[in-house]
Amino acid sequence: MRLAKIADRVAGLGSDKWAVHVEGKQRRSRGEELIFLSIGEPDLAPPHAILDVAAKQMMSGRTKYSAGNGEQNMLDALARFYTKQTGRKITSDQFIFLPGTQTALAVAFLSIVDPGDEVILFDPYYATYEAVVAAPGGIVVPVKLDPDTGFHPNIALLERAITKKTRAILLNTPSNPTGAVFTEAEVKAIGAVAKKHDLWIVSDEVYATQVHGDHVFTSPFFDKALEERVIVCSSISKSHALPGFRCGWIAGSAEFCARITTVSETLLFGSQPFLEDATAFALTHEFEETEKMRQLYVARGQALIEGLRGSNKVSARMPEGGMFLMVDVRKTGLSGEEFAFRLLREKQVVTMPGESFGTGGAGHLRVALTVDEAEIRQAAERIAALAAEI
Ligand SMILES: Cc1ncc(COP(=O)(O)O)c(C=O)c1O
Repeated sequence: MRLAKIADRVAGLGSDKWAVHVEGKQRRSRGEELIFLSIGEPDLAPPHAILDVAAKQMMSGRTKYSAGNGEQNMLDALARFYTKQTGRKITSDQFIFLPGTQTALAVAFLSIVDPGDEVILFDPYYATYEAVVAAPGGIVVPVKLDPDTGFHPNIALLERAITKKTRAILLNTPSNPTGAVFTEAEVKAIGAVAKKHDLWIVSDEVYATQVHGDHVFTSPFFDKALEERVIVCSSISKSHALPGFRCGWIAGSAEFCARITTVSETLLFGSQPFLEDATAFALTHEFEETEKMRQLYVARGQALIEGLRGSNKVSARMPEGGMFLMVDVRKTGLSGEEFAFRLLREKQVVTMPGESFGTGGAGHLRVALTVDEAEIRQAAERIAALAAEI
C-alpha cells in the first residue's frame, strides 16, 4: 500500500545513529559486562514526593479527559515558573501541555514548517532534530559549531546560512550533545538575527535547570521583544528525573498557543490530569534531589576529565551544563564512529559516536554522565588505554 511522503522523509533518520548502542545491548544480553555511557537517562530516582502526588491524584479520580491545552492548575504553575525564570510577566495562556519535549518539538515544527522550508540547526545537534524538521517537509541546514571554541556559535556563519526559504533556527542550550551553554551575548545575537530575517526560534530548554559553574542559562524567551517568534520546548524529564512521565510543554506567545491548540489536539486530545497535577507540584516546589543530580554530573565530568589527563591523544572539556560531554578523539586519526566501535569491542565501553549528532560531532564521542563515578573512572582509563594503543 502507498504511504504518505512523511514515512519516506523520516525513514532512516533514527536507527543507524544508535548502532554502537544497539550492538552494546546485544553483547550485554549475551553476558558481556559493559559500561554504558550512551543513554541520556538520569540514573537517580525522582523526588518521591512527586510520585506521591501522581499516585494520590490518580486514585482520587484525576483520570478523565483534560482540557485541550492543559489543566488550569498546571498552566498556572507554568506561568509562575516562567515568570520567575524570565523575570517578566508570563500568563497561563502562553502554554500547551504535551507529552515531553519531543512531542513539543514535533508540534512546533508541524505548526511552522511547510514543505521546502529550511530550518537552521547548530551542528552537532540532538539526534531526533532531523526527523522533527523532516516530518512536515522541512530541510535541515546545519551550521557548524567549532569544537575548539567549546562548540559555541559563530554568528557570521549563522547569518551566511540564511536564505529566502529559512523559517526557523533551532536552539538547544544547555546542549545535548556538546554540553555548551550559550552566553547571553550569543543568545541575544541569535535573537537579533531571527528578528532581522523574520524567523522563528525554537528553543529546546530541556536542560535549562542544569547549568554548571559560573555559566548562566539564557533563553531568547527572556526578551519580550522576541516573544512573538520564540517557541520554548521543555519538560520535567531531565530536571526531575521523570522521562517516563512524558510531561512537557510548549511556551510561546498567547496568540501562537491559541492558534496551534488545534494542531496539538489532532494528535493528543489532552493529556493525563493526574500527571499534570504531579508536574504542577514539581514546578512549584524545591527538591534536594535535583541539585544533587546536577552536582553528580559535575563530579562525574571532572572524574572523566581527570582520567583522560595523562593522554596526549584524547581529551575532554568540562560541560557548561546538562549531563553530557564530548571526548575529542581526533588526534587518534580515527573517526568518532571507528573509535566508538573499537571502544565497545575491545574495551567494553559503550558511547555514542559524535557523528550520530551531525558532521559537527566528527572525531568525538558523546559520553552520558549517567553512571557512578567509579565506573566513569574505569571508562576514562579504558578510553585512554585504547587511544594509546592506536
Ligand atoms: C536535547 C534534547 N531534547 C529533547 C529530548 C527529549 O526529552 P523529553 O523526554 O522531554 O521528550 C532529549 C532527551 O534526551 C534531549 O536530550
